[in-house]
Amino acid sequence: MYILDKENSIANHFLAELREIDIQKDRYRFRRNLERIAEILAYEISKSLYFQNKEIQTPLEKTAVALMHDFPVIVSVLRAGLPFHQGFLNIFDHADSGFIGAYRKHGEGDEFEIAMGYEALPPISGRVVILADPMLATGKSLIKAVEHISKIGKPEKFIIAAAIGTPEGIQNLDESLKVDFEVYLGSLDRELNEKAYILPGLGDAGDLSFGQK
Ligand code: URA
Repeated sequence: MYILDKENSIANHFLAELREIDIQKDRYRFRRNLERIAEILAYEISKSLYFQNKEIQTPLEKTAVALMHDFPVIVSVLRAGLPFHQGFLNIFDHADSGFIGAYRKHGEGDEFEIAMGYEALPPISGRVVILADPMLATGKSLIKAVEHISKIGKPEKFIIAAAIGTPEGIQNLDESLKVDFEVYLGSLDRELNEKAYILPGLGDAGDLSFGQK
């Protein structure tokens, strides 16, 4: 598992702004900070992807370069995943995109199930699929998304990327998923509260990005 904030960098500043209640009120800044974390995670993920050596012509001479061989497919969970998705596209600019609607359907008390809605997926067999969801809380929506995608095709591997994750969420992924996956996080937080919100967390990433439902 890769965790971005283990080492101090500008990413920690962006993560701090995402969490800080007064700065969060600036919705544009909140979305942009999610994008920036995704951009930095995309850069880190790119180190594990495939490159092809090629000779190109500069205005002065020919030179050897390394080009990305095959762009990953970016699949995000609506709606909180949208700013995060854009951050990945800012870096993997030729990537195909997929979208999955997943939301908490509340029953008795604090119980909830994950319901799936809208989906639009490109061909994924044999390709690296980055699942982009800013908040890896229980991991249930990501598990549903991976299971759903795996019925449609067989990606080479899944990379699960989140701004903030939890030990419970990671444990659930490890126990439930039958496919190969890697996890890239901005930060690994302490725990979930009784409503399955991340602590210390940042609140509701969808509401902070787009307004209350
Ligand atoms: N989704 C969020 O937006 N925030 C959490 O803390 C958990 C899930």
